Amino acid sequence: MHRSEFPRSHDLLPAAADFIGRCYSEIGRAEAVNRRIQDIRIEIETTGTYQHLSFELEHGARMAWRNSNRCIGRLFWKSLKVRDGRHINTNDAVFDALGNHLKYATNKGAIRPLVSIFAPAHPDRPEQSLILANHQLIRYAGHAVEEGVCLGDPNEVGFTRFCQNLGWKPATPPGRFDVLPWVWKLPGGDWHYRAPRNEWILEVPIRHPDCADFSALGLRWYAVPIISDMLLEIGGLQYPAAPFNGWYMGTEIGSRNLGDANRYNCLPEVAQLFGLDTRTAASLWKDRSLVELNRAVLHSFESDGVRMVDHHTASEQFMKFMETEGKKGRSVQGDWSWLVPPMSGSACPIFHMNLDNEVLSPNFYYRSPLPERSAAL
Ligand code: ARG
Repeated sequence: MHRSEFPRSHDLLPAAADFIGRCYSEIGRAEAVNRRIQDIRIEIETTGTYQHLSFELEHGARMAWRNSNRCIGRLFWKSLKVRDGRHINTNDAVFDALGNHLKYATNKGAIRPLVSIFAPAHPDRPEQSLILANHQLIRYAGHAVEEGVCLGDPNEVGFTRFCQNLGWKPATPPGRFDVLPWVWKLPGGDWHYRAPRNEWILEVPIRHPDCADFSALGLRWYAVPIISDMLLEIGGLQYPAAPFNGWYMGTEIGSRNLGDANRYNCLPEVAQLFGLDTRTAASLWKDRSLVELNRAVLHSFESDGVRMVDHHTASEQFMKFMETEGKKGRSVQGDWSWLVPPMSGSACPIFHMNLDNEVLSPNFYYRSPLPERSAAL
């Protein structure tokens, strides 16, 4: 979700008060609301902004996950761990915090949902904050080898070029799965890049439960999706750097990252491997390839002990989420077009639901795109 306007100092208080009221009533501190709002009022009057207490930050981040209309995995919102990195103001400390996030979240495959929250923007100086340029902390480079041809992830061509302009050297020879460096800029500083250590990066080679030749396709994917280009908003305050992760749902990799024609585009090679008739769409070779590719992804993560959920189980969990939220007296908002899995949609219960897509606060929003990242293939 995009949101163009966030409150400036002069109208921060209503957003803060609204958040404090709901947050405190959820965590059983309703009696402290008025006093806290008075303190915040004074803080905003003197500094133009306010600081969250650490329990407010923690519960606010969990509410933001709970309010993420496009996320099917929200049943687990309460288990989100929150790291407070608001004091971080040096490049070394940024690198350490990102490394610690990756290590804690990966947990040798027993993936733990985590958000690391860096300093908030001052409402009157929103551009003065840490910016992470990566879309995710682990992502593969896209090398534009010639006009219209990409080796690696086509979605990362612009960012890969940006990294190279900063001085980053890709592996030689470049491959399809080269992990990109971390790129960030502290307020008043220049773009800075540094590669995560190899031993922090868990990846899964993709093989198939009953087709031994599948491994020869050389496909792989990383274990943990850590989104690093969204802005966390809590009580009117913006946290422009707040990388967060859950674990993967299989179709994100099997259907989209590896299957999409404008991503790794693997369906033709999978069809060939399984001897499917690609001359006519009506043979359903794409559908059958999607099934085999998704089976391979689920099987490989399972075999390597890396936590992943299949789309049927995730859909069931989402239904459970709707039920538990209903019991708490809260309605669930959702974006149907994102929540229905990109395979076998109608076999999943969400397909048959009507959902309201109103965007509640706290939430995660798309940041405005960085010009540095954009470049056509
Ligand atoms: N769809 C994105 C990807 O494939 C990741 C989005 C977040 N996914 C998640 N399971 N938390 O890389």
